[in-house]
Amino acid sequence: MKILVTGGAGFIGSNFIYYMLEKHPGYKVVCLDALTYAGNLETLEDAMKNPDFKFVKGDITDREAVRNLFKEEKFDIVVNFAAESHVDRSIEEPEVFLKTNILGTQVLMDASREYEVKRYHQVSTDEVYGDLPLDRPDLFFTEETPIHTSSPYSASKASADLLVMAYHRTYGFPATISRCSNNYGPYHFPEKLIPLMIANALADKSLPVYGEGLNIRDWLYVKDHCSAIDLIIHNGRVGEVYNIGGHNEKANIDVVKTILKELGKPESLITYVTDRKGHDMRYAIDPTKIHNELGWLPETKFDDGIKMTIKWYLDNKPWWENIISGEYKDYYKKMYDNR
Ligand code: NAD
Ligand code: DAU
Repeated sequence: MKILVTGGAGFIGSNFIYYMLEKHPGYKVVCLDALTYAGNLETLEDAMKNPDFKFVKGDITDREAVRNLFKEEKFDIVVNFAAESHVDRSIEEPEVFLKTNILGTQVLMDASREYEVKRYHQVSTDEVYGDLPLDRPDLFFTEETPIHTSSPYSASKASADLLVMAYHRTYGFPATISRCSNNYGPYHFPEKLIPLMIANALADKSLPVYGEGLNIRDWLYVKDHCSAIDLIIHNGRVGEVYNIGGHNEKANIDVVKTILKELGKPESLITYVTDRKGHDMRYAIDPTKIHNELGWLPETKFDDGIKMTIKWYLDNKPWWENIISGEYKDYYKKMYDNR
């Protein structure tokens, strides 16, 4: 079995590569990644030592390069993680989100059709459903919840999902889609809430909480996302969407306070800053379908996962200190100074 993992030098894709190499010895795994600001080859250092793994630098929107790779490698399965993934960046500069997330998906699907890939999996997000109100804790996103996007990021992911479904219907393209809630764990890029708060707290810098910090996210430990995708690509039904989430809803302010407590840092570091434009209030996944059809259940509770994650960031300081000392500094200044 030969699998193409796009975006594998990023957070979830790299975790997926390590998961697959361990879980399925003998599978060949090829990573295609453009190494944007979010991609990091250091993350794949250990995978590089495995003869079943290969890294290829390339852009999923580069049709010729993608075709050549597919022609040469003859993939059985394609899992598309490659994306621009940060909502705040999409609000500042939407265009690259449309290019990578929509057109890149089309290029990958065209190559998959031409070279007869047996299964194409699109890694999507719960953000395509928009948000839920805070005063209706009884509501959850199911696979039937209408698409209703809020940010250029989520609109680009939803557009890609629609294209995938259209390719399935029109060409019988063997595709599946998963829509997961917020992930956390090792190799999470420091622009995102949890790693940003860990890094700032360790440096005794202020922790910028948007609005009142009451927005709710449904946190899933990244390894549980990987196990769900593994099940879908092997046993999921083509043409189907599977929601992935583990009922770990937390208000942002509670996540931030937990991190401070674990690190022994004072809550006085918290600073409430101007809210994100169009900020979604609450995400909450109903994972009944993937549980009933594929037997998936998450293994890691938030209380354990957040401790493991904090420990990982403490044990792997060079990985993230390297990132935040580079061009990330300019990003941070632009997004947070005078906010
Ligand atoms: P990330 O930003 O950490 O990594 C994205 C990777 O894609 C990087 O390695 C980057 O170099 C690569 N990439 C970007 N543009 C590319 C291009 N044009 N060609 C090739 N490679 C390119 O993202 P992540 O958080 O790991 O998210 C991975 C996927 O999972 C995304 O599709 C995202 O929408 C989805 N998702 C993320 C979460 C989450 O909580 N992070 C939750 C649900 C779904
Ligand atoms: O739900 C899945 C989505 O989760 C993925 O599709 C996205 O790729 C991923 O980035 C994530 O999106 P969010 O916008 O939910 O994640 P982020 O870490 O950016 O923010 C989480 C919450 O924390 C959100 O309500 C905004 C808030 N926040 C974020 C940052 C970076 C803050 O309060 N302060 C911050 O500095």
